[in-house]
Amino acid sequence: MDLEEDDLEILACRIEEMERTLIPTGLHTLGEPPSPSERADLLDAIARGRGCTPPRVTLEALIAGASPDLALSTGQVQRTPQALELMRTLVEADRHLRQDSEIPALLHALDGGFIRPAPGGDIARTPAVLPTGRNLNGFDPFLLPSVFALREGARHAELLLARHRAETGQTPESIALVLWGSDNLKSEGAPIAQALSLMGARPRLDSYGRLCGAELIPLETLGRPRVDVVMTLSGIFRDLLTLQTRMLAEAAWLAAQADEPVELNFIRKHALAQQAENGCDLQTAALRVFSNAEGAYGANVNHLIDSGAWRDEDELADAYQARKCFAYGVSGAAVKQSAMLNAILKGVDFAYQNVESVELGVTSIDHYMDTLGGISRAVRRARGEAPPVYIGDQTLGEPKVRTLAEQVSLETRTRMLNPRWYEGLLRHGAEGVRQIEAQVTNTLGWSATTGEVAPWVYQRITETFVLDEAMRRRLAELNPAAASRLAKRLVEAADRRLWSPDDATLSALRNATDDLEDQLEGVAAAA
Ligand code: BEZ
Ligand code: MG
Repeated sequence: MDLEEDDLEILACRIEEMERTLIPTGLHTLGEPPSPSERADLLDAIARGRGCTPPRVTLEALIAGASPDLALSTGQVQRTPQALELMRTLVEADRHLRQDSEIPALLHALDGGFIRPAPGGDIARTPAVLPTGRNLNGFDPFLLPSVFALREGARHAELLLARHRAETGQTPESIALVLWGSDNLKSEGAPIAQALSLMGARPRLDSYGRLCGAELIPLETLGRPRVDVVMTLSGIFRDLLTLQTRMLAEAAWLAAQADEPVELNFIRKHALAQQAENGCDLQTAALRVFSNAEGAYGANVNHLIDSGAWRDEDELADAYQARKCFAYGVSGAAVKQSAMLNAILKGVDFAYQNVESVELGVTSIDHYMDTLGGISRAVRRARGEAPPVYIGDQTLGEPKVRTLAEQVSLETRTRMLNPRWYEGLLRHGAEGVRQIEAQVTNTLGWSATTGEVAPWVYQRITETFVLDEAMRRRLAELNPAAASRLAKRLVEAADRRLWSPDDATLSALRNATDDLEDQLEGVAAAA
């Protein structure tokens, strides 16, 4: 295929558009390979993903062209076979990172050329995703969760139970677990395996070793009670992982029928109680997999937060339950089951979601507060008190379980208030300001859905981005509309009593917000 001049112009516009809409992580811009220091950050992430922390000088030596041997001795790292193997992986990753392979691949594809297939995933976990600009293949649906993911998922399940025991002294009977599609693709299905492990189940394989359903792990092998898990799937999960959706529903159904003491099988305990209370059959009372109606996505909680069009927090719970009340049973078909979802939420001890990639945090996109925030609010309304909310951090090195309050504080310190982070965003101009503003909106979303945001978070964000006059001017010049929305969002947090600033802060914030709005109107009038 020959490209005409017009085509080239359209292509240039498309590339510009893609560049504009890329999530600016501060690390990578289309057509511009990362700098040496950014490459060192990425190599560091890959090493940490393998549980190693080589000194920075070692990484810098590799990037400067040193051999694995020399790089190790520069950082005074012992020359073990494992260390050498890691160095070789990093050299290979760096070779790909220093070249732009995406634009040539895009042009090649537009020219009708063949694009080689490659694994998809997270660079820290799967360096083989490099070079990018290839044709991603996600996964083999018959092999997910993998053996590795089953081991990891079981480990994450025990860590989660241990954290809740440490916080409350109690073993949970029922957990609300949010499952996303992309997270499972990045991790070979570890969150699915975690859900199975909590219920005391595992995949059932056919004689070819392919996934065909679920089976229970005997209680003697499990060594603890089966935990009841209500699993809410993103629309993407439901679309991509049909076999796994049915497997999870089957695991709950098998547990509900098992001839076991109810003190050791909370799924059966609750399903029998729900059957008696609602007068339904046991299979209906054992429904534990919920998502949107077919063809629908998201809980709309993020849209309510973004538009500010909610009066009280129960409206957020209503939106969540109206969207996510479709049960997916063993047949795989969706059936609206609002009353059953509400009955299950009443018994939930805590809500939980994994974070699988260093690229995203719970405050960087609005989908976490939409899904995990939404269900937390729905549980709070159904139970009459706020449940604990936990995040499993599976991004780098050893997995950790944090409370949501800890996670929001960590992200605020390391991202929002970290000059390396926000300066990286601001290098992207208007889009960078929009991203900063989006994080503030997401933070308000967490307050509204869980109440787990500490007051200092709002105070420091206000001081850094609004009360600091130089920064306020910079944001307003780069993106007057987003700068004004950011300040108004902080006022909204105070007006809704999600944060109670002192009088001096509130009055300075209100004045600055008025200034930003005047400037915005000035911009609009001038335009
Ligand atoms: C998912 O992969 O399921 C997902 C990704 C982004 C936002 C929401 C869901
Ligand atoms: Mg959105």
